[in-house]
Amino acid sequence: MSTQQVFNPDNLPYLDPKKDRKVALITGGNSGVGYFTTLHLYLHGYIVYVGGRNKERTTLAIEKIKNEAELRIKKLTSSTVDGDGLKVEVTVGELHYLPIDLVDLKSVDDASKQFLSQEKGQLNLLIHNAGIMATNFSLTKDNFQDQIQTNCISPLLLTDRLIKSMTPPSSAPSSSSPPRIVFLSSLAHAAIQWHIKPEDKLQRTPDLFWRWIRYGQSKLVGIYLAKSLSKRYPQILSTAVHPAIVACFPENWWC
Ligand SMILES: NC(=O)c1ccc[n+]([C@@H]2O[C@H](COP(=O)([O-])OP(=O)(O)OC[C@H]3O[C@@H](n4cnc5c(N)ncnc54)[C@H](OP(=O)(O)O)[C@@H]3O)[C@@H](O)[C@H]2O)c1
Repeated sequence: MSTQQVFNPDNLPYLDPKKDRKVALITGGNSGVGYFTTLHLYLHGYIVYVGGRNKERTTLAIEKIKNEAELRIKKLTSSTVDGDGLKVEVTVGELHYLPIDLVDLKSVDDASKQFLSQEKGQLNLLIHNAGIMATNFSLTKDNFQDQIQTNCISPLLLTDRLIKSMTPPSSAPSSSSPPRIVFLSSLAHAAIQWHIKPEDKLQRTPDLFWRWIRYGQSKLVGIYLAKSLSKRYPQILSTAVHPAIVACFPENWWC
């Protein structure tokens, strides 16, 4: 593959948020894959709601992203052209902190209400990025196994609450830029080879092994959710994506 063919987010279209307002909500935008996804959306003119369970960590990340964006813009405008060969003009979007804790369904409900009160009826991109991996067995206060709730049940609830903002009556199924729902999945879904019973919390021993099976199960469910959503809402592009094995920050222990 030549260097021209390598995907480079810098070459994606740059929106002018004053003329073409696009709204995104990403969970876990303060860290890892979510941090850099938020950075690129912001750089490309998106209004981004950054969902996080810790206000301090998330607002700090938002400040860092703004600083990083400034540095990147300086480099971009001197050397980068878009897909049409034109010099890029960058007008950054907006970043808003949205409190959300996925192990608490009430918090998910509250986050959706806050989003809907701030953004009246528009959501173009919903990214279910936040996730936990291979944690020891524990139940949330909603009585779900924590990986299943964080990685799929809460994302499903959030989607349910916000789906109307993604399907305005005027949206045409053939739109060239359909709304999108993205689930961060994992190759670990392949660890699950058998029928999943939602009532089976997979609390088995040794936990060292079963916590990986529970992770794979939660990631497989994410893929099923994307598939079901794409059937039910053909006007929305719903996908699940494995981000590869990436260590965005040295402190990220699982890479
Ligand atoms: N990195 C990889 O190699 C890889 C591979 C396959 C799949 N994935 C998937 O890609 C996604 C991002 O991975 P990553 O490596 O970027 O992970 P990460 O750096 O560990 O970040 C995970 C994010 O999820 C948030 N989060 C966790 N529990 C939460 C909760 N209860 N409520 C709200 N937010 C919560 C974390 O918030 P805090 O900062 O507050 O903890 C953090 O922002 C995950 O879904 C993961 O399963 C990653």
